[in-house]
Amino acid sequence: MANTEEHLFVVMGATGDLMQRKLLPALYNLAVRGTIKNRCITLGVARKADIDDNLFRELARKSLKNAGLTKNGKTTGNWCESCLHYQSIGGGSPEDYKNLALRIKALEKEHGLSGNRIFYLSMPPNAFPGTITNLGKAGLNKSAGWTRLVIEKPFGRDLESAKELNKLVHNYFDESQIYRIDHYLGKETVQNLLVFRFANAIFESLWNRDRVERIEITVAEDLGVEKRASYYEQAGAIRDMVQNHLTQLLTLIAMEPPVALEADPIRNEKIKVLRSIAPIEKNNIVFGQYTSGDINGRPVPGYKEEPGVSPQSVTETFVALKLQIDNWRWQGVPFFMRTAKRLPRRVTKIAVVFRRSPVCLFKHLNTCEVHSNILFITLQPDEGFDLSFDVKAPSESVKLNTHRLLYRYADDADQIPDAYETLLLDIMEGDQTLFVHADEVEASWRLYTPLFQKNIPVHPYPAGTWGPDVSDELLARYGRQWIKLS
Ligand code: BG6
Repeated sequence: MANTEEHLFVVMGATGDLMQRKLLPALYNLAVRGTIKNRCITLGVARKADIDDNLFRELARKSLKNAGLTKNGKTTGNWCESCLHYQSIGGGSPEDYKNLALRIKALEKEHGLSGNRIFYLSMPPNAFPGTITNLGKAGLNKSAGWTRLVIEKPFGRDLESAKELNKLVHNYFDESQIYRIDHYLGKETVQNLLVFRFANAIFESLWNRDRVERIEITVAEDLGVEKRASYYEQAGAIRDMVQNHLTQLLTLIAMEPPVALEADPIRNEKIKVLRSIAPIEKNNIVFGQYTSGDINGRPVPGYKEEPGVSPQSVTETFVALKLQIDNWRWQGVPFFMRTAKRLPRRVTKIAVVFRRSPVCLFKHLNTCEVHSNILFITLQPDEGFDLSFDVKAPSESVKLNTHRLLYRYADDADQIPDAYETLLLDIMEGDQTLFVHADEVEASWRLYTPLFQKNIPVHPYPAGTWGPDVSDELLARYGRQWIKLS
């Protein structure tokens, strides 16, 4: 059982998709499984004025049912009735925020809470500045207990706006109160990266330019833009995936061992990696956009035909890039990353490709096909780690076969906790390790912001393929090929 203190969990934007699909199920699971030690009362806040506590609970029951968590909408221990409330914020005037503050106080009294509060901004990014300012002006940035502010991604849309947002938040909240979410950091395998690297000395001693030939990070989605065109048209894959999720994976793979497994030492090491990455040259980046095609035998429209997307759109749905980390450990080791929508299937994998043996002893076999040992870290689906190696095939002649040493999470646990459960619990416990620091978010934007001025051409690729040919050409220029993902 986690040592959480009783608190009020206020979700700003509580009628939105994230609350209904992710936050409610996570809050519900944490409560009914008994993971949270003390009471967590949730107050949903949104503009809609025609919702009251009862209707909000009704919506919540539907969402929990959709998530497969309740039978016939019946929640264990009547969680919805005892823990959920709703407050309209109307047009967001100072008066509305005053009313919110009064409602919060009233609920704390009703439930015997001592003033510990979490404000979760589950809303479109353009609503962050106004909401933060209003919370601050209404005095909701402090209380009799602790107050924490959770901000969803994307945090800014470039370096300038991220700096402005940091400045604005810091007007009202101290960095120790701020939890910038990147849900990839809550994924079980991502957290395991640190354990895997630093608990297994054999790998740590191989983790450098002498032994590693290259690293590939792939985050592939089979989904298209779905119903999020208005957001995605403004974002594109760099802002939606690369600046945050892929960069988090990169920093965890490349960072030096921290002095302790605690928030600040870990975040400092990640920032050092970001600061060591060389500026990305135009010829080391590929943009693509999906056209119509087939995914698993199902025809799907092209990006420009998706509802809400401009027929002239040049938004990138595919990014491949090569990064160079200019530090002692990684000098000369290329890091290739790619992410896209509408690839053949959903797979997130990191491949650490080790150098081949320096001399081939198998020339007489007419094959010098000694393969590189590759460590695959699979984040989803079928989470696990596996290491490929060559063995002699059991036959009279000498023939090499590649096999894999495999660890799968599914063999160890029936269920892997959802990333949001992990992250919400950490926020409740006040542990910032899996959240992004102000300096980290700025260092990441410093790297990617120059790309927005480079007029990078956007190449079409049919949905259901692994992206435009130029993505393969990028690796071919360095004498490599993307590893085929099983
Ligand atoms: C979100 C992006 O942050 O991550 C989405 O906005 C993307 O576009 C999603 O689909 C992918 O998350 P996951 O956990 O399904 O890999």
